[in-house]
Amino acid sequence: MQNRRIYFIERPDGPVTPACFDIRDEPTPGLEEGDVVVRNIYLSCDPYMRGRMGGTANYPGSKNFPLNEVIPARVVGQVEASQNSKFKEGDLVWGFLGWELYSMAKGGGDLRVIDPFLGPISHAITVIGMPGLTARVGILDIGKPKKGETAFISSASGAVGQVAGQIARLEGCHVVGSAGSDEKVRHIVDVLGFNSAFNYKTVSSIGDALNEYCPNGIDIYFENVGGETLEAVLDRINVGARIPVCGQISQYDSTVRFEPCNIDALELKGALMQKFSIYEHMDQYDAFLPWMAERMKAGKIVYYEDIVDGIENTPAAFIGMMQGENLGKRLMRVSEDPTL
Ligand SMILES: NC(=O)c1ccc[n+]([C@@H]2O[C@H](COP(=O)([O-])OP(=O)(O)OC[C@H]3O[C@@H](n4cnc5c(N)ncnc54)[C@H](OP(=O)(O)O)[C@@H]3O)[C@@H](O)[C@H]2O)c1
Repeated sequence: MQNRRIYFIERPDGPVTPACFDIRDEPTPGLEEGDVVVRNIYLSCDPYMRGRMGGTANYPGSKNFPLNEVIPARVVGQVEASQNSKFKEGDLVWGFLGWELYSMAKGGGDLRVIDPFLGPISHAITVIGMPGLTARVGILDIGKPKKGETAFISSASGAVGQVAGQIARLEGCHVVGSAGSDEKVRHIVDVLGFNSAFNYKTVSSIGDALNEYCPNGIDIYFENVGGETLEAVLDRINVGARIPVCGQISQYDSTVRFEPCNIDALELKGALMQKFSIYEHMDQYDAFLPWMAERMKAGKIVYYEDIVDGIENTPAAFIGMMQGENLGKRLMRVSEDPTL
């Protein structure tokens, strides 16, 4: 089998550029006892990958991607060939594989068979996978929402934000979102069902927008972006507010971090600000699958994926996602999905 693979060849200094990647065609090596070859269908594009490419955005314990290796990523695919009794040809699986057309899972790796009754197979790496679980942990375990409270979600139409806001709504919160285009703002209100949303790029100031849309202050801030948004939120948190820090994407390309000047608001308001990594919460994964699938089937949570076709478009799709091109969770589709 001829493989096409995306190698990571240069650490970015600032925003990621096409020069960071090289696309190479190579044969797939033969299988040994225990190995599985997967024909990849969906490849994930995630902001945390920017941290692993080099810079300051890594989570504790995570390592930079090595140079001159294929970019590792969560993948949904179909077993093409197997020398492993746990997997048979045709099985639909997901696992930590790579940006390539075919992946070799040595000894079966961390592959898991996908239960098609849980929903579309892509969901295994989106809403009933890492981004969905991240949203649940941030909102429910750290945010601890109470009925009638105000929850503000940044990057609210994205992979994690869209779920975080919908869970907060189900818990009876007044939910407000921000995003970087008018199309995203309409989507957040009309499709995702948030109470309101604003375009952080066109409002006169983020603080004024928060005054307008969160008139009772902010009880939960689901932090995805950092920078000026975080500073504006800190001025408007209520006593006992909770801030689950999921990520701070506005800082990932910066060499000089924007530090809010009002971090003392946490002390003054007795508020909690807690950074978390989903890797510390993977013990919840098995219970999370039916929890989320049930809500999706009942129409209580909807989910949007932003799919780009063609492996050769993967670097541009990642760069575009970092710049706000995606409406929903960005995925690459690199071969046919047999369930569609
Ligand atoms: N803690 C964890 O374990 C964990 C797990 C998953 C994700 N995360 C974090 O969660 C956050 C969201 O990730 P995601 O996967 O859901 O990505 P996403 O929101 O689907 O996509 C990234 C979005 O970030 C926004 N963005 C880019 N630059 C920005 C800036 N300077 N200011 C404000 N927004 C900016 C863009 O939307 P706009 O059009 O709105 O600018 C872009 O569409 C990231 O910070 C990520 O690192 C953390």
